[in-house]
Amino acid sequence: MITNAILTLLLIILIGLVIYNAALIYDLTLAFFVKFNGQKIVPYVTTRNNLLADLLAETNNLIQPHDKILELGCGNAKVLKSLVRKYNCAGDGCELLIAPYLSALGRTFFWRKKIRIFHKNFFKTDFKNYSVIYGYLLPYLMPQVEKKIQTECAPGTFIIINTFPLPTLTPFKTIDIRPEGLSSKIYFYRI
Ligand SMILES: C[S@@+](CC[C@H](N)C(=O)[O-])C[C@H]1O[C@@H](n2cnc3c(N)ncnc32)[C@H](O)[C@@H]1O
Repeated sequence: MITNAILTLLLIILIGLVIYNAALIYDLTLAFFVKFNGQKIVPYVTTRNNLLADLLAETNNLIQPHDKILELGCGNAKVLKSLVRKYNCAGDGCELLIAPYLSALGRTFFWRKKIRIFHKNFFKTDFKNYSVIYGYLLPYLMPQVEKKIQTECAPGTFIIINTFPLPTLTPFKTIDIRPEGLSSKIYFYRI
């Protein structure tokens, strides 16, 4: 009986590993060969924990329970979940790569009433449905992101951009984070 249970558990873990590795191979293929909107996909790098801690501290009073957050390219949804948990609001994350998408689904499983994760290109999401937007992307995407923000976001929308700023909008606040000599900035914009 116990042996059967252990064997079943091992089988489930094995199937999980096979699916996750297949997802990684698919993602690597996408990263090397496929373009979205004519651009190569942004690599998956998560927001560092010390930067996230500063971000959570600096957003005090700027995000409220009635807000709805969109994370552009949410990766494993670490940032989205932290913001939703701290401010008791709701949020959606869009992610193109399968492995981080699966990881985000797992991370937010018990938060399903407040957080939705989509395997989706965020350029196909209407930004007007959100009052807070967070993005950690790469410079070549930022002009397109800014254009979409300017076209779709309602006045008052709070935009948080990690490291690579929007090209023409002026942030109302810039936070400089320098862990171990590495410099990163977080930019706050209000539309
Ligand atoms: C630098 S990582 C940041 C991950 C996460 N936001 C964080 O801060 O930890 C950028 C992520 O955006 C995703 N991404 C890039 N372009 C995207 C798009 N058009 N739609 C959805 N996801 C995208 C990438 O797959 C990658 O996981």
